[in-house]
Amino acid sequence: MSSRTIRIGLCGLGTVGQGVWKHLSANRSALEARLGVRIDLAKAAVRDPRKVRAVTVPAGKLVADPLSIATDPTIDIVCELMGGTGLAKDVTLAALHAGKIVVSANKALLCEHGAALFAAARKGGGRFFFEASVAGGIPIIKALREGLVANRFKLIYGILNGTCNYILTRMASEGAGYPQILADAKRLGYAEADESLDVEGWDTAHKASILAYLAHGVWVKTPHMIVDGITQITQADLKYAATLGYGIKLLAVITRDFERNELFVRVHPTLVPKDRVLANVNGVFNGIAVMGDVVGTTTYIGRGAGQDATASAVISDIADAIVLLTTGRDITPVATTAGVAELLSVPVQPLRLSPLERIRSRYYVRTTVKDRPGVLAQIATVMARNGVSIESVIQTTAERPEAASLILTTHESDEKAMRATLNALGRLKSVVEKPLLLRIGDFSE
Ligand SMILES: NC(=O)c1ccc[n+]([C@@H]2O[C@H](COP(=O)([O-])OP(=O)(O)OC[C@H]3O[C@@H](n4cnc5c(N)ncnc54)[C@H](OP(=O)(O)O)[C@@H]3O)[C@@H](O)[C@H]2O)c1
Repeated sequence: MSSRTIRIGLCGLGTVGQGVWKHLSANRSALEARLGVRIDLAKAAVRDPRKVRAVTVPAGKLVADPLSIATDPTIDIVCELMGGTGLAKDVTLAALHAGKIVVSANKALLCEHGAALFAAARKGGGRFFFEASVAGGIPIIKALREGLVANRFKLIYGILNGTCNYILTRMASEGAGYPQILADAKRLGYAEADESLDVEGWDTAHKASILAYLAHGVWVKTPHMIVDGITQITQADLKYAATLGYGIKLLAVITRDFERNELFVRVHPTLVPKDRVLANVNGVFNGIAVMGDVVGTTTYIGRGAGQDATASAVISDIADAIVLLTTGRDITPVATTAGVAELLSVPVQPLRLSPLERIRSRYYVRTTVKDRPGVLAQIATVMARNGVSIESVIQTTAERPEAASLILTTHESDEKAMRATLNALGRLKSVVEKPLLLRIGDFSE
């Protein structure tokens, strides 16, 4: 074969990098035949070249300095698979400034510095591909960018963190406690070393930011989102939710109000009606529902992380990068407001982030109260004073002596009213534990 050789450098050869090396090596001939090029896994950068790895890499190809790959003029595609926002940023920017194509799985870097990375790509003539950064093996980025390009997106919501979904699924199905299941998730390699990224919702928030950018062309950083994790959820909540006809899932929810030209991005545990597809996406799987104004709702389910699923997404980007290098055929660009304004030569009203207090929802409130007459009436008064209307009440015995658990659901209200309600409930002498607030997701599919 006398075709062009594409040289690929991997910065990072950990879980994802080794998966890419393994599957690219195994399926190389098939990919080469499809793409009409020769593929050379030319170099890999690691922190410790002496570490024993599951893949065999010739010693001459291992380097300790990832920047040397980013700036090597013989490398066509740089895969940043180290993680973090320090060295990973330097490596990515160096490669983009050198006009290279960077393939990345790094959602934290994108969420923090997405705008700067795309600006560097534009300036240096490089390109930045990031299919592996959201929902592992599910090709959601390609779906939003290419398959659904005809659409405007009123609502996107999804389970984007396999660790949280694994924990909530096992808590619901086995009745095992949160600490034991978290320890299992770590042992099985699902949870990040710093589990707070998963269980406090930050990983989901990073991915929500990337989806919001793809769908709406603006970068929303975490301080402009509601980000609640799953650490406050108890088995009792999962049981009460089931009684009410819901499963609990940690969801990213991206809502666009086209009339006001506003965007909400939020991450929180959500009561999802049991008959909805996403309520039945369990274990480490991810699921995303996308509501397009042309196509209606499409739903995507698959493995959201792990070596093989993530490698599949990285290799898909490598294939797109090779097509770009050999034919000049580029992927569909994201329509940013600035880009549209430039194209049409007219000012375009910038998209606003909505004040989070305006988010409307039905709510689930669990509170522990002194078990004595009149308490329910006090709580109902507080809620009514804040304009919140109760839809249903469950009362059960609490674990504490002489206390009762009250589980209330509300009719539609907003975050401002609910925050005021929770503060007022917390001040009542009859309320003995800080109330827990969850949102109910009545998304029509
Ligand atoms: N794991 C997943 O399921 C998954 C899924 C989706 C996205 N991601 C993203 O993919 C990226 C990589 O994740 P991972 O799980 O593969 O991480 P990992 O297993 O910790 O691997 C990181 C790799 O980077 C190398 N590295 C770190 N610092 C370095 C330095 N200063 N110089 C040279 N090499 C360095 C490490 O070298 P040594 O091997 O010598 O330590 C290791 O090979 C992250 O952005 C992550 O968020 C991961």
